[in-house]
Amino acid sequence: MLEVENLRVHYCGIRAVKDVTFRVTDREIVAVIGSNGAGKSSSLMSISNVVRKAGGAVRFAGQDITSADPADIVRLGIGHVPEGRHIFPFLTVEENLILGDTGRTGGGSGRANASMEMVYSLFPRLADRRRQPGGTLSGGEQQMLAIGRGLMLDPKLLMFDEPSLGLAPIVVEEIFDLLLKIRAMGKTILLVEQNANMALQIADRAYVIETGRIALSGKAADLRHDPKVASAYLGI
Ligand SMILES: Nc1ncnc2c1ncn2[C@@H]1O[C@H](COP(=O)(O)OP(=O)(O)O)[C@@H](O)[C@H]1O
Ligand SMILES: [Mg+2]
Repeated sequence: MLEVENLRVHYCGIRAVKDVTFRVTDREIVAVIGSNGAGKSSSLMSISNVVRKAGGAVRFAGQDITSADPADIVRLGIGHVPEGRHIFPFLTVEENLILGDTGRTGGGSGRANASMEMVYSLFPRLADRRRQPGGTLSGGEQQMLAIGRGLMLDPKLLMFDEPSLGLAPIVVEEIFDLLLKIRAMGKTILLVEQNANMALQIADRAYVIETGRIALSGKAADLRHDPKVASAYLGI
């Protein structure tokens, strides 16, 4: 479904992503794990073309999207749930969700309402709070809202950037259970995480990124038992 080849990202001469190659197959959960500053967010943002690539190629469902417009990338079926959630604090839960849809329909359409009901059935806590300002939600609820917004256009592939960041362990488990539910809905998931332990529990395959390069890859179950991964990322 997604093929990323030799991706590079530079910021004013800083080489943040030096050479990143990976692929994601239909209905897989693929994790990219790595420590702070390894180049995870830069990789996702350059796939979405919200930061410029210095090099490399990206194909999605057989189509070359290396230089595609960010809005077209969303329309083609890639949802990006960014690090830090970026919800609109003074807009209600429902308004935040509608903004996830305007890319295609202008909002308020019958299809948007159907998407919203789908999001509410997946996240009953959002349904109870649909008129509440986004900024008054708990951290976990805000993450649910960001994920719900990413689902509004019914993407084939969802890219999650550190959905567990800053959340209590019990809330992290809840969010990861939701990722499994989203995959069960027929979606494909690319999950970027510093929380290697949790990510390797739900992923099928994983890549380890270190200072802008893929250092290791394999089945998630195998990587959990790899001594290098255990000492560097699992605290074992
Ligand atoms: N806008 C920016 N300008 C300059 N350097 C940046 C910018 N964004 C990220 N970087 C640098 O690029 C590297 C990779 O960052 P990032 O992709 O955010 O890593 P991660 O998401 O894995 O924590 C880091 O060294 C970071 O300081
Ligand atoms: Mg990041």
